[in-house]
Amino acid sequence: MENSAVQKKKILSGIKPSGDLTLGSYLGAIKNWVELSDEYDCFYMMADMHAITVRQTPADLRRRTLSQLAQYIACGLDPKKNTMFIQSHVSAHAELSWVLNCYTMFGELSRMTQFKDKSAKNATNINAGLFTYPVLMASDILVYQADLVPVGEDQKQHVELTRDIANRFNGVYGDTFTIPEPFIPKTGARIMSLQEPQNKMSKSEQDNGGCVCLLDKPEAIMKAFKRAVTDSDTCVRFDTKNKPGISNLMQIYSVITNKSFEQIENEFASRGYGDFKTAVGEAVVELLRPVREQTEKLIADKAYLESVYKEGAERAAYVANKTLRKVYKRVGFVAK
Ligand code: TYM
Repeated sequence: MENSAVQKKKILSGIKPSGDLTLGSYLGAIKNWVELSDEYDCFYMMADMHAITVRQTPADLRRRTLSQLAQYIACGLDPKKNTMFIQSHVSAHAELSWVLNCYTMFGELSRMTQFKDKSAKNATNINAGLFTYPVLMASDILVYQADLVPVGEDQKQHVELTRDIANRFNGVYGDTFTIPEPFIPKTGARIMSLQEPQNKMSKSEQDNGGCVCLLDKPEAIMKAFKRAVTDSDTCVRFDTKNKPGISNLMQIYSVITNKSFEQIENEFASRGYGDFKTAVGEAVVELLRPVREQTEKLIADKAYLESVYKEGAERAAYVANKTLRKVYKRVGFVAK
């Protein structure tokens, strides 16, 4: 692995264990991680440090972090080929983040739409971590000299800021960081809530039926799709403006089955929404069945999971510390 890894371009991505993994995260990000993992040297993390920008129950955070690792593996990420680790286990992220804070402008962070959304939702806890979160994310990416960052559309602005920070730093000190590119899928980059199809499907709406999680049981998945909000028309047609619910279901069905929107429109031309919702639900059930079954087995094997995240952190720290040393030298810190 070591020799070929040296030649390959790098990928870094991560997910916050602030809730259970959703179908949105799977189709927007993890699916591509799996597809890209042969071609790139990949680093995939559980972003636990990002999760605490919003209050978490400690025991839940710990449980979800380990379950998330099991789900990464169950989704097809081979720990022998991919470096999987827990963000807080690699201290270089936090260390680089401090340095990059000093090369990021208040105005830039104020313009981040996710900060505006999250501070509106957490009005009683608009903490500094929520504000500087994109700098930690930039550090996650830059510390591995990542070439590519596979994410859903909602993270594009953060990757763009990462590029700006890296360019600014390189401009002052000479080439230090690789400038990363976002990798956003054409279909599935923004899966919407099944209950409020004008909003993104997110971990935070697990209770209202708008969100499907990777570990949901078949009956719960079918129920969520049968109850999915659509419109008063009966025609299965892609039109995000007038038919956001149906268009969202078409996106989900399209990414899973590889069928084009036109093929889907033809397939359901003379059938009602009921048939279509059932077909989408069944496709999701079959997609997630092996993930859930495999995750259940992996979660029971704590020693194995521990070996994966420990080895992952060791490999990750080796790469990350190299960048950190270079950065410390560039800014003028005395070597240890
Ligand atoms: P997070 O944890 O909110 O989401 C994880 C990933 O899933 C994607 N995603 C979606 N894609 C399509 N439709 C949806 N409804 C949907 N919901 C989530 C997200 O775009 C993301 O790719 N800041 C990141 C975590 C992070 C990170 C990083 C990512 C921390 N450091 C470094 C990349 C590189 C976040 O909050 O993602």
